[in-house]
Amino acid sequence: MPAKPRSVAEPLLAWYDRHARDLPWRSPPGAPAPDPYRVWLSEIMLQQTTVATVRPKFDLFTARWPDFASLAAADESELMTAWAGLGYYARARNLVACARVVVERHGGLFPGNEAELRALPGIGAYTAAAIASIAFGERAVVVDGNVERVVARLFAIGEPLPAARTAIRIATDSITPDRRPGDFAQAMMDLGSAICTPRSPKCLACPLVGQCAGFARGAPETFPVKPAKAARPQRYGTIFWAEHGDQVLLVRRPPRGLLGGMRALPTGPWADAPPGLADRPFAADWTLLDTSVAHVFTHFRLELALAVARLREHSNAGEWWPVADIESAGLPTVFAKAAAGIRRAI
Ligand code: ADE
Repeated sequence: MPAKPRSVAEPLLAWYDRHARDLPWRSPPGAPAPDPYRVWLSEIMLQQTTVATVRPKFDLFTARWPDFASLAAADESELMTAWAGLGYYARARNLVACARVVVERHGGLFPGNEAELRALPGIGAYTAAAIASIAFGERAVVVDGNVERVVARLFAIGEPLPAARTAIRIATDSITPDRRPGDFAQAMMDLGSAICTPRSPKCLACPLVGQCAGFARGAPETFPVKPAKAARPQRYGTIFWAEHGDQVLLVRRPPRGLLGGMRALPTGPWADAPPGLADRPFAADWTLLDTSVAHVFTHFRLELALAVARLREHSNAGEWWPVADIESAGLPTVFAKAAAGIRRAI
């Protein structure tokens, strides 16, 4: 079992010095810490999505809002549009709330320790630890999904998730060094992303292979042990596509709840059986298409029927958007899928 921090940290940091990913929110290995604003923003963006998705969005976002002051003054609907595709929209709202607290109560500078970071809006235990170590060089125990996998394998932790998280945290603490804790955390992430991958880990290229209890047992890919699968309930709804001339009607979703505050196509509430046209937003000559759109959210699966109507006059129920320009509306993925399906079908 790898018990001493140095026996893991030394070979891992040496590997990181050669193989670190060059990412726009990072400093090179061993270099002074990067801008805390950029570290924070990247961590929030990466909570829901992959590095590949975040990278271009991050560049656009930081060009438009380069620091806490500009973000604190951001226009919410512009921000929501820029956030499209990055997952939970509550995060985008918390982003502005956090920037405002930093500007109003901390003079525009992030507090540099984990406890104070944790008190800011939208910053949980993982994010506080990641920022403290990466942006401020504090020794903190940073466990994201990649780190969880690496550590569960390194220590052959046999308990299933989520109960295994306590043991994983203790094990991660035991190997986290005082020196270069931010590089260590990001080295663990990079190792998990490039070498210690979920299905076919490349153990012979791993700097920790000699200390890996999972490898020694011959089946590293079986760690972490998965929990029994919870079934996702199936819900149904209908999306309403109202056209007038070359424009389509968009609405803004209520601020709270799923995809809150986002621009969207009108829908009724989700139901346990297909609702058809029962919850249409207004009377019109609606036609149900014979295709539907399926989308999987964290807690349920959604199947959406597609209803279309051509209106003779503008209803004042929302915002009229040029159909040809629908991609620039910043629609959440499920609505973008539906729009593409409808445009193919009509
Ligand atoms: N995932 C979360 N934070 C990350 C980081 N700093 N680098 C790479 N992947 C990450």
